[in-house]
Amino acid sequence: MDKDSALKKIKEEILGLENSPLYKERVANHVFPVIGEGDHNAKVMFIGEAPGEKEAKSGRPFCGTAGKLLDWCLSEIGVDRKETYITNIVKDRPPKNRDPYPEEIDIYSPFLDRQIDIIQPEIIATLGRFSAEYMLVKMGLADKVRPITQLHGSVLQTKTNYGSVRIVPLLHPAAAIHNPTQKNFLLEGFKSLKQEISR
Ligand code: URA
Repeated sequence: MDKDSALKKIKEEILGLENSPLYKERVANHVFPVIGEGDHNAKVMFIGEAPGEKEAKSGRPFCGTAGKLLDWCLSEIGVDRKETYITNIVKDRPPKNRDPYPEEIDIYSPFLDRQIDIIQPEIIATLGRFSAEYMLVKMGLADKVRPITQLHGSVLQTKTNYGSVRIVPLLHPAAAIHNPTQKNFLLEGFKSLKQEISR
């Protein structure tokens, strides 16, 4: 199956994911799951946590306040968002933007695993502690898990079934929304990502 068809199949499966506890919320609130968007051959894949209110309304990842900060970081490092692929671990919005529950991560992460296998990014930039921890554990790097402020901007090389991949854990952009100091710190991590992209 080609990449576009394989990704479309994932979308259809998530649309019908009635066994997810978040499916009921989706239907009750007349919103959408957020599957992911961007280049299906992207070198860089961003993985966030879960959709927020704007994302669930539009079905697009990182289109709200956190998304504006992500866009700012990308423009500061000269990376075109359209050349990347952006998704989340959890594809439906948890009520009131609460942290995702482990069982929600368990339900949605197999879709993320398939997206990674299809897109085959060389660099996976995680946004926030949930996706950092998920990816490190998945890649057999559980011993490298640290608080996200310590991991931010680091580079971890690992192997997948399609080749080697570099994981760059980054702070979640939402962390910098009310804090200008964090904004500079956030950007520092993105500069490290830029160095990896340029290699
Ligand atoms: N926060 C996330 O983790 N993902 C989004 O898509 C939006 C906000």
